[in-house]
Amino acid sequence: MSIEHLQQLDKIVSLSKARGFIYPSSEIYGGLGAVYDYGPMGVELRRNIRNQWWKAMTRKHANIVGLDASIFMHPKVWEASGHVDGFNDPMIDDKQSKKRYRADHLIEGLIARLEKDGKVDQAAKVQEALDTAGSRDGLCEDLEAIIHEYEIKSPDSGAFDWTAVRQFNLMFKTQFGAVAAAGDNDGIYLRPETAQGIFVNMKNVMDTSRVSIPFGIAQIGKAFRNEVVARQFVFRMREFEQMEMQYFVAPGTDEEAYNEWLEKRMSWHLELGIRKEHLRVAPHPQDKLAHYARAAADIHYHFPIGWQEVEGVHNRTDFDMTRHQEFSGKKMEVFDQATQSKFIPYVIETSIGLDRCMLMVLCDAYREEEVEGDVRTVLKMHPALAPIQVGIFPLVKKPELQEVASKLETDLSDHFTVLNDASGSIGKRYRRLDEIGTPYCITVDFDGLEDQTVTIRDRDTMQQSRVSMEKVPSVLHQKMDAWAP
Ligand code: GAP
Repeated sequence: MSIEHLQQLDKIVSLSKARGFIYPSSEIYGGLGAVYDYGPMGVELRRNIRNQWWKAMTRKHANIVGLDASIFMHPKVWEASGHVDGFNDPMIDDKQSKKRYRADHLIEGLIARLEKDGKVDQAAKVQEALDTAGSRDGLCEDLEAIIHEYEIKSPDSGAFDWTAVRQFNLMFKTQFGAVAAAGDNDGIYLRPETAQGIFVNMKNVMDTSRVSIPFGIAQIGKAFRNEVVARQFVFRMREFEQMEMQYFVAPGTDEEAYNEWLEKRMSWHLELGIRKEHLRVAPHPQDKLAHYARAAADIHYHFPIGWQEVEGVHNRTDFDMTRHQEFSGKKMEVFDQATQSKFIPYVIETSIGLDRCMLMVLCDAYREEEVEGDVRTVLKMHPALAPIQVGIFPLVKKPELQEVASKLETDLSDHFTVLNDASGSIGKRYRRLDEIGTPYCITVDFDGLEDQTVTIRDRDTMQQSRVSMEKVPSVLHQKMDAWAP
């Protein structure tokens, strides 16, 4: 990761705080690792992203319905899903700095350094050792052996003073009820993904809504993971939100559905206004697939920290529903009228983190531009996502201008999120709204009082055009529809 890239992330972190997008949680007490709060601008941006996703998944697909399952679920769910036994990360501690690392990430860091230094053969050798880790001894033992063989030092202290590598389960556990019920003494988990709420409700949804195979269930909700390393702002958090859709299909049609969903999800990112050259599809190689998956691909975004997953699309086969049938003792087979056959459905999953998606939007929108010897910071995001879509500025604080501005505010607030602001110089007001991504600013001036016009300033070009007051809503709609990154 280059210094410039790190600086760019730092700038986004600072802007997010300064403009009310994202604050560290409980900041007055020093913050809480990898937990964040969303301020007034963050709330609006997140709601807009959520709405875009919900619209694309449910309103545009008559056979996809919504669900809002609980965060707490029966402990057996996590046994059936495999999370109790297998949702682990290999961790290692630097005894000197007391900092904790993912052992596999330390090795990936070494590979990146070797590649950067042109030591391609050595990098390939380490990569092969990492790829085959777990096949000789246990995974932890193999990772530890690599760290020792290449004397990988701690990134923070520079020391080579490690603990052993240990598996660390990422689920958070808590007490349930005042007295733990018999059999539940082990406590209960906060869900690490929203998907299981969908699987356990598949039958309920089928029995109570008019859906049949193929159909989908969409859900947006919080998930919790006790991440070993969480130093990447809202990219990797311990409390985050997922937007997941499980598409239930007949066996034999799963491959086609998987390909369709991968294509649809990539289109969604482009429709969100993300630049094409910053997106790529990264299929998981066959020998790296999770044991239950037949095919999987990540949609990667080019973050300042490098190419990273923002969304996953998976063909999960009938693994989940078969496991829930086994663990619950309830039949999960469905009857397909079209083929007059009975089967346990296959599942195609699309899974995206809302917070990570928001970071992608902020990174893609962030620009610094030279304007008349000054630097303008601007978020060039899709107008449909902007927390404030229209700024309304009386040129100066005079009642006759403020009266027109208030009327415009009333008329426009049914269609857009608007901010009516009369304080400060007009230049400063423009810049403030550039920094939160407001695509259009309307200025009410004295000339306009004469001929019933206002000016509309475009965030991206900074061009202003004079428009008749009555046409403002339609002109704004046209501009928003025509917007391209
Ligand atoms: N049900 C499948 C599932 O949960 P995942 O790849 O573990 O798959 C899906 O997570 C998405 O959730 C990721 O692509 C990412 O956007 C988001 N995500 C996962 N862990 C996260 C974390 N710790 N912080 C923020 N987002 C996270």
